Parts: sequence; structure tokens; C-alpha cells
Amino acid sequence: MKGKIALVTGGSRGIGRAIAVKLAQEGCDVAILYAGRKEAADETVSLLTAAGARALAVQCNVADEKAAEAAVKEVAQALGPIDILVNNAGIVRDGLAMRMSSEDFRAVLDVNLTGAFHMIRACLPQFVRRRSGRIINITSVSGMMGNPGQANYASSKAGLIGLTKTIAREVASRGVTVNAVAPGFIETDMTASMNESALQKGLSAVPMGRIGKPEDVANAVCFFAGDGAGYITGCVLKVDGGMYI
Ligand code: NAI
Repeated sequence: MKGKIALVTGGSRGIGRAIAVKLAQEGCDVAILYAGRKEAADETVSLLTAAGARALAVQCNVADEKAAEAAVKEVAQALGPIDILVNNAGIVRDGLAMRMSSEDFRAVLDVNLTGAFHMIRACLPQFVRRRSGRIINITSVSGMMGNPGQANYASSKAGLIGLTKTIAREVASRGVTVNAVAPGFIETDMTASMNESALQKGLSAVPMGRIGKPEDVANAVCFFAGDGAGYITGCVLKVDGGMYI
């Protein structure tokens, strides 16, 4: 992937950071978008630079359409035309549906689903014009199997699968592929906030009996981004230790 330009949303930590680093190790120049913590984003940029990549971090709330468009422009100006878009930014606001406010429902949809749509729309014209491009959306097995307490999150991730398949069909003839990776239970800040009993319950649902690493997800993303996946589109690849079979 030497010389390719990749943009990873939510690349400041966790899975997004691992994806950004892996892409840099594979020869890409990489830009990350992040929501708030500049120190974490700067740390990722140092890792990317150490891997030999040109790198850039842009603060951007992907739920904000104009901000997403501006970020894509900024990245293209700084690094060159984008080849690979990874929609990884995501949030949770868990709670049982009976008690979930519509504000919490909407906030998760706005970032996880509408945010990805904003990024795709901002990148697609250049992909279509150049007749090449890779889009990889990070969904979740929650969106495939449902998960109590995650009506908002599971809906956003199921929506992301519909978005993946639809855009894949819309741009297949233009040399652009669109795929999704569905992680199961991965060790990041998102899972670190779980209490011990929730963690044990989660682990008991994983046939492989262990939590996954961000790098496990990054490997799948790199596969879709690479030349070897040129004839694959509209696919959802689970990286979940067998959690959802
Ligand atoms: P994390 O909470 O460690 O990192 C989230 C990243 O998203 C951060 O870089 C943050 O700055 C960014 N972000 C959040 N809101 C944003 C916004 N409005 N605009 C731009 N960036 C924003 O999360 P983690 O665990 O690394 O998850 C990454 C992705 O993987 C998410 O989409 C998540 O839903 C998905 N996932 C994670 C699983 C896990 O077990 N950790 C399991 C399945 C899916």
C-alpha cells in the first residue's frame, strides 16, 4: 500500500489507533480524525511518523456535516487525494430502552451512523472521479445479534451494515469497494469502563474465551484496504472470537 493516503476517523486511541498504525506499517500516509483528546491524537501521530508515514491529526466531530467536509478537504490538501476511508469513530450511551432518553438514542446514531454517512459523502466524489477507493466501516456484532442495553448502539451498527451494502452497490461499477468489519469484544477504553461482572458475562459469550486486541481488527481492515481484496465489496467480516456464529 506504498504511497496510498488513508483517513481513519476516531484514530486517536483504541481500535482506530491500531488501524492507523497498521496502515502506516503497510506503507500508507495516514490522517486521523479525533473528537477531543489532543494528547492522545498527538501520541498516535508520533507512532505513525515512527512507522515512516506522513501523518496528520485533525479535530473533527463527524456528526457535524460541515466539519466532516472541511476535515476531508484539509487532509486532501495536506497529504494528497484520499484512497482509503475507515469509518471507526463511535460512542456508546448504554441503558435499557425503557429508560433511554431520545437524546441518548439520537446522539449515538448521529456519531456512529450519520457521521459515517457524512464522511462517505465527503470522500465519494474524489473516489468516483479517480475510479478507485476503499471504504471500510467499523460496525459491531451488537448490530448483528442485538444486545440488551444497547438499543441506540445496536441500531446504529445495524444501520451501518445497511449503509455499507447500499453504497457498495451504488459505486461498485466505479472501482470503489465498501466493506465492514464487525468486532466482538475488544480491549479498549470502551470496554475498560465495564464492571467486572459485565466483563465476565461478555467473555463467557466468546467461544475462544478471550478478549480480542485492537490489532485483530486492524488486520481485517488492512485486508479490505489492500490489493488482494479488490474483488470484495458489500462484505461484513466478523472479528469476534466466534461470539456470533
Ligand atoms: P474508543 O472509545 O476507545 O475510541 C473512540 C474513538 O472515536 C476516539 O478516537 C474518539 O476521539 C473518536 N470519536 C468519538 N466520537 C467522535 C466524533 N463525534 N467525531 C470524531 N471522532 C469521534 O473506542 P474503540 O473501542 O476503539 O472503538 C472503535 C470503534 O470500534 C467504534 O466504532 C466502536 O463502536 C467499534 N467497536 C468496538 C468494540 C469494542 O469492544 N471495543 C466492539 C465492537 C465495535
